[in-house]
Amino acid sequence: MADEKGRYSNAFTATLAGIADLFRKQKNAVVLSDDDVITGKNILITGASSGLGFEAAVQLARRGAHVYMACRSGIPEKGEKVMQHTGNRNVVMLPVDLSDIESIKKLVGQLKEAAVKIDVLIENAAVVPSGSRKTKQGIEEMFMVNYLSKFLLTRWLLDNNLFNTDGGSIPRIIFVSSESHRNPKAFDWDGFGKYKEYSMGKTVELYGYYKLLMTTYANELARRLNPTSQHRYSIFALCPGPVNSNIARESPAIFKPLLKIVFGIFFRSPKVAVQPVVYFAASSDVKDKTIDYLFLMSRKEMDAKATDVENGKKVWRLSEELLNQHGVVFQKSFPPRI
Ligand SMILES: NC(=O)c1ccc[n+]([C@@H]2O[C@H](COP(=O)([O-])OP(=O)(O)OC[C@H]3O[C@@H](n4cnc5c(N)ncnc54)[C@H](OP(=O)(O)O)[C@@H]3O)[C@@H](O)[C@H]2O)c1
Repeated sequence: MADEKGRYSNAFTATLAGIADLFRKQKNAVVLSDDDVITGKNILITGASSGLGFEAAVQLARRGAHVYMACRSGIPEKGEKVMQHTGNRNVVMLPVDLSDIESIKKLVGQLKEAAVKIDVLIENAAVVPSGSRKTKQGIEEMFMVNYLSKFLLTRWLLDNNLFNTDGGSIPRIIFVSSESHRNPKAFDWDGFGKYKEYSMGKTVELYGYYKLLMTTYANELARRLNPTSQHRYSIFALCPGPVNSNIARESPAIFKPLLKIVFGIFFRSPKVAVQPVVYFAASSDVKDKTIDYLFLMSRKEMDAKATDVENGKKVWRLSEELLNQHGVVFQKSFPPRI
């Protein structure tokens, strides 16, 4: 994958790379069928107030799911919009700020209180900040929202038995990643979770690095949740390609008019770009898969760094140690597969 390196190292090359990808011929295409309804399945989506997450809520509600929209903003109007668009009244909005450990704890508490058993978790939220910012707990915000909150949310949902495994049901956990996960040359183990100052020039590079951490975690999660030949959980990751969403909201004001034009012409609407998310949430084609990755609607290998077993173990251990330092102790441990 040597030719993939450097494509997402800054905002300009990342935008060009995203557009070029749309025009490349895609191999191993998958097809989303209208017959894949998911009536009554409980689906939790983070970052459902905007872009891809909102569209996932609409399309999955349309397919009959009970949709839980975990959002920082847009409460209650975004949920009402989903109900209006789909006629499905089984839409619940849950407030959460994924940059805040306490807020994630409250979200899990609310789900527990409501005795919701999740069939599909869509870890979608992300931020592309104009520069480094500290969260309430003093963690770097993009690291927390784009990676660590995902580790924490899945682990707490597992600790509290909030996935639906009744009667042999196999929960699906979907990570919205990006092809930019291929960009980092190596892991920064010594700097893991340490707060560092940066400005916009470094944001895109770090964005790719946090997507690599998340994708590596996805692989490790698939190994640990399926320690034997028995398939218990399905873990999926995907890149939706360039999406005309609010992701570049913090870009410098001077570039915004140009970005609006480029996004409008070349980037895909959330309605189209969300297809791989809906496919992984609803398709019966992937019911036997413990791990899978899509780029657009084509199956692809993830970067070798993300699938490497030793990297997976290390990402898991360092994430757990970091959260321990913030007072988080998990009840359930999932030993690495030897
Ligand atoms: N757009 C692209 O070209 C592209 C390409 C590849 C991958 N992706 C991935 O696609 C996913 C969705 O992004 P998008 O393009 O749809 O962008 P978006 O329109 O900006 O949506 C991002 C969502 O994340 C939420 N969010 C951000 N920080 C949060 C926090 N601290 N707590 C809770 N929610 C928070 C936002 O909530 P608010 O509305 O409250 O801010 C929003 O709902 C992301 O994982 C992104 O990395 C996007």
